[in-house]
Amino acid sequence: MSGGTHAVGSANETDRPFILSVVNAAFGRDDEAQLVKKLWAADAVTLEFIAVQDDEIVGYCAFSEVTAKPAIGGLLLGLAPLAVTPGYQSKGVGNALVEYGLNSCQARDAALIVVLGEPAYYGRFGFEPASKFNISWAAMDAGDAFQLIDYADVAGNDAYKIDYHSAFSEL
Ligand SMILES: CC(C)(COP(=O)(O)OP(=O)(O)OC[C@H]1O[C@@H](n2cnc3c(N)ncnc32)[C@H](O)[C@@H]1OP(=O)(O)O)[C@@H](O)C(=O)NCCC(=O)NCCS
Repeated sequence: MSGGTHAVGSANETDRPFILSVVNAAFGRDDEAQLVKKLWAADAVTLEFIAVQDDEIVGYCAFSEVTAKPAIGGLLLGLAPLAVTPGYQSKGVGNALVEYGLNSCQARDAALIVVLGEPAYYGRFGFEPASKFNISWAAMDAGDAFQLIDYADVAGNDAYKIDYHSAFSEL
């Protein structure tokens, strides 16, 4: 079957082997797929979505809870990983996954979403450098690559440090 359109929806357990293949192919190594496996094993994926095209899973994105120091109330999520099968890249699949994912996060009343990645890519979705809000990644200074969307206006006077789930530190 062929066709130019993709559909995005929630992932379920039967999708898992296909998701791992997509993540592995997108990153060209196994580390991120291993991370996804660890997050599943720890039941740490809060929201996850797949993109389907030509009857195949061709894209995946996950959101897992992050923590802030000092504490920030509400649901704080990190977007990672985002992956699209190489042959299906640059066709809007990543875009559709992130938009669908962020809408779902908002529907869950997420207060804050963070992401580590290219500002040139994530800026289009409303992500801004976290440094602008005096918020940083606890693990290291990632510069403008560490970005966020502050849906609940949680950023204030404090300098917050954000930590991902422990599975990320093994990446
Ligand atoms: C990043 C990724 C998810 C984007 O998915 P996609 O389906 O190709 O994205 P879209 O089609 O929605 O958007 C494509 C546009 O995004 C931009 N883009 C893609 N990757 C980019 C990057 N690393 N930096 C800046 N812009 C980027 C380009 O402008 C591209 O436009 P073009 O087709 O005119 O070149 C995909 O390329 C991928 O899986 N890459 C490997 C894994 C990865 O790096 N994941 C992100 C980790 S933070």
